[in-house]
Amino acid sequence: MKIGIPIETCNEEKRVAATPESVKALIHLGYDLTVEAGAGEAAGFPDGAYEAAGAALSDAKAVWSDSDMVLKVCPPSPGEARQMKAGAALVSFVQPAENPELLEVLKTRNITALAMEQVPRITRAQKLDALSSMANIAGYRAVVEAAGAFGRFFTGQVTAAGKIPPAKVLVIGAGVAGLSAIGTAGALGAVVRAFDTRPEVKEQVESLGASFLMLDVEEEGAGAGGYAKVMSEAFIQAEMALFAAQAKEVDMIITTAMIPGKTAPILITKEMVASMMPGSVIVDLAAGQGGNCELTEPGQSVVKEGVTLIGYTDMVSRLANQASRLYATNLSNLLADLTPAKDGEAVYDMEDEVVRTMTVTKGGEITWPPPAPTRLALPPEPPKTEKKAPEPSVIETSWQRWAPQVKPFLFLVVGGFLLYHLGRVVPPDFLQHMTVFVLACFVGYMVIWNVTPSLHTPLMSVTNAISGIIVVGALLQVSGPFFSLKTLLAAVAILIATINVFGGFLVTQRMLKMFRRGGDHE
Ligand code: NAI
Repeated sequence: MKIGIPIETCNEEKRVAATPESVKALIHLGYDLTVEAGAGEAAGFPDGAYEAAGAALSDAKAVWSDSDMVLKVCPPSPGEARQMKAGAALVSFVQPAENPELLEVLKTRNITALAMEQVPRITRAQKLDALSSMANIAGYRAVVEAAGAFGRFFTGQVTAAGKIPPAKVLVIGAGVAGLSAIGTAGALGAVVRAFDTRPEVKEQVESLGASFLMLDVEEEGAGAGGYAKVMSEAFIQAEMALFAAQAKEVDMIITTAMIPGKTAPILITKEMVASMMPGSVIVDLAAGQGGNCELTEPGQSVVKEGVTLIGYTDMVSRLANQASRLYATNLSNLLADLTPAKDGEAVYDMEDEVVRTMTVTKGGEITWPPPAPTRLALPPEPPKTEKKAPEPSVIETSWQRWAPQVKPFLFLVVGGFLLYHLGRVVPPDFLQHMTVFVLACFVGYMVIWNVTPSLHTPLMSVTNAISGIIVVGALLQVSGPFFSLKTLLAAVAILIATINVFGGFLVTQRMLKMFRRGGDHE
């Protein structure tokens, strides 16, 4: 199978989807590589390096029309996609919601398209998680940009010429980009503070040497699937009061506060900017989604009220060499999974959760959005405002008033009635097991949904909780004769569930290590 790497043509993009290193890895998987001449130039990878790694060089037309698979960074333009071989494959960022025309072209050309931004955030898929790789770079680059615009040291010093206090940095939003910014600013010697609506990230922030700012307002910041949710007006007001006080103290603010699929909340007002010390810097990473600062000009660096406001939306492309290396590694990891026989033939197993979630078109069909992940639904959020029913009847009103008290009682009566009749027809042993089973389900449900998901691997927290319950249950069953089916099954359950629990912790540790000074970057 022939893989093609074209030049990125969108918005002066400097990244490239393959590096000489990843070319070697892909050739090892049995693929033939063709790179468009000059594709790696802007990221610091000359054509000669690709040739030396074993790739052929070609022009754009040949790369698009002769390749069985195209690897890219940005979504291709509909025009580029039309040049692709019918039935070929595409792996790149696709952003299907924003590119309906592209999706149609991919469908009519029978392209199998895998979208890198759709990688599910589950433990197994972490090595493919391009969004995290890129956010990590954006956080780092945000600090570098801030350092470039800031007129002083980050670190405090005592010199013969006087004492220099360390710079103070506030990071708003401690997701992947925020944690990376905290680690980088801390490594340069700044005093770092951070705030996030999800209090469970406190430990992660502190483990990077920063202090976590707390609010008195109690509101859970984690929404469905452990991702952030839109906060109430009262909460936003309270956090803005906190930022207003901080703005007078800190030298730099890096904002990364974002809820996927929503416009960024405005958290830093014009007045707060004006209250900062002249020479201060704000880097607004959410600029692409409208910005967290009222004065941000997306894509620009401007000075307003004596403060430098950086709203670049191409932070990742500004570190093109590093970004290409990480992205290309994400891609070669994906290809390694898709090519188990290492024979240069990609196999798309649509039963595999990762492949299914990433696939946006296949076999002449649009397969996006994917079916909901196979996991238990989160408990519904309590309604925020009570809806006024239009002129309710007397019966409706009294039922609404008494329903909360009556409902559990009704369940008890119906449950008791069913159990009584079940008890009359089934053996007593069955009834006993049934009662334990129902109680176990109830306790398990309560335990699992009280686990707080953290570090954007929400499924991990839930699966760890489930695994924990499996371990406890299996431990209770593991006694008895060694070679009995029961003991064997319990032992296997303990083994698999334990691997899952420790695997989860290891992955969290590895993610945090990424942001620590001198961390392990494997
Ligand atoms: P993320 O979703 O992992 O993190 C966002 C964090 O903001 C979450 O921890 C969330 O709890 C927090 N948050 C949400 N609302 C908040 C509020 N009202 N107050 C305080 N915290 C709040 O996202 P990630 O991957 O860390 O990216 C962060 C931002 O950086 C995104 O907007 C992303 O689009 C942007 N980005 C920008 C780039 C650029 O070139 N400018 C490049 C890459 C990412």
